Amino acid sequence: MPLSSRPVILDGDPGHDDAINILLACSNPELEVLGVTTTYGNVGLNRTTQNALIVRELIGATFPIYPGADRPLIAERLSAEAVHGESGLDGPDLPVPRRPAETLHAAQFIIESVRSRPGEITLLPTGPLTNLALAFRLAPDILPLIREIVWMGGSTDTGNWTPAAEFNALCDPHAAQIVFESGVPITMFGLNVTHQAIANPARVAAFRQLGTRVGEFTAVLLEFFAEHHRLRYGWDGGALHDPMTAAYLLAPELFAVRPMRVDIDITTGPSAGRTHCDVWNVTGQAPNADVAMQVDADGFFALLVERLAGYR
Ligand code: BDR
Ligand code: CA
Repeated sequence: MPLSSRPVILDGDPGHDDAINILLACSNPELEVLGVTTTYGNVGLNRTTQNALIVRELIGATFPIYPGADRPLIAERLSAEAVHGESGLDGPDLPVPRRPAETLHAAQFIIESVRSRPGEITLLPTGPLTNLALAFRLAPDILPLIREIVWMGGSTDTGNWTPAAEFNALCDPHAAQIVFESGVPITMFGLNVTHQAIANPARVAAFRQLGTRVGEFTAVLLEFFAEHHRLRYGWDGGALHDPMTAAYLLAPELFAVRPMRVDIDITTGPSAGRTHCDVWNVTGQAPNADVAMQVDADGFFALLVERLAGYR
C-alpha cells in the first residue's frame, strides 16, 4: 500500500450501485478501505449486510463489515425492491457468504476508527445517513477529526422517490440534517449529476468484455438495474449513482463541484426529504457543502472499466 493511500469507510445499502462502489474503492491502492458499514435502505439491513459480504467474497477482500441502523431516526422506513429486486442485488447468482459480519455496531466502528486516525478518514455514504447521524450524536468529539464526507444523495432539482426528494435523503431526512449541520466538509453527488451517467448497453458491454468474474458480475448487475430506469424514465440504462463517491476521490477532475448552502426538508408532506440547494446563493448563507453539478460521463465509465480490470 503506498504511503499516500487514503483511508475510507464505505457506508451503504447494497444495492447494485453500492456494490459497484465497493468494487471500485477496493480495486486500487489509492484508497485504503478500513471497513464497510451497512444500513437499511434499498432493502432491509440483514439483506444489505449479506450483499456486502457477497461482494467482499467475490473479490477475496478482507475488510470488516459492520451492520448498523435497521431503521431511520424518526421517519417510517422505506425500501426500494422495485429498483433493486427482493434481494437488493437481483440479477447475478448470489452465493451464501462464508465469512460473517462483525458484531460491533456501524456507528461505533465509525467513532473508533475516526478517533484512532484523527484528521485522516473520509466517509463515503451511499445510502440513508442514519449511521453517520448516530455516530455524530453519540460522539460529537469526532466531528473535527473527520477529513471529509462524500455522499451520494439529494438533488439540486427533482427527486426520484417523490417529485421533491431523492431516495437516500427521503429515507432519513433528520439524519441528513444532522450530517449537513455537522460542520464536516461534505461533497454531495445528487441526482442532478448521477443522471448524467447512464450505463447504456455499450458501457455495460465494456465491463463484460473484461472477461472476468467481476466484469461479468458488474454487467449483470447493470442489466438488472437498467430495467427500472427503462420503465420509469425511458432511458437505455441505469444511472450509476453511488460509484461517483469513490470515483471522486480517485479522479476529481472528472467532476465540476460548486460550494453552496444545502438544507434538508424535515417537514412531512410533499416536500419531505428535499435537499434545498442554494445554487445561486439567493439566501446569502455560507456554503455547507460542495455539490457536484457535472460529470465527464465517458471519463467516469472509462475509470470504472480500467480499475475493475485489475480484478482477475
Ligand atoms: C440512491 O438510492 C438507491 O436506490 C441507490 O443505491 C442510490 O444510493 C439513488 O437515489
Ligand atoms: Ca445506495
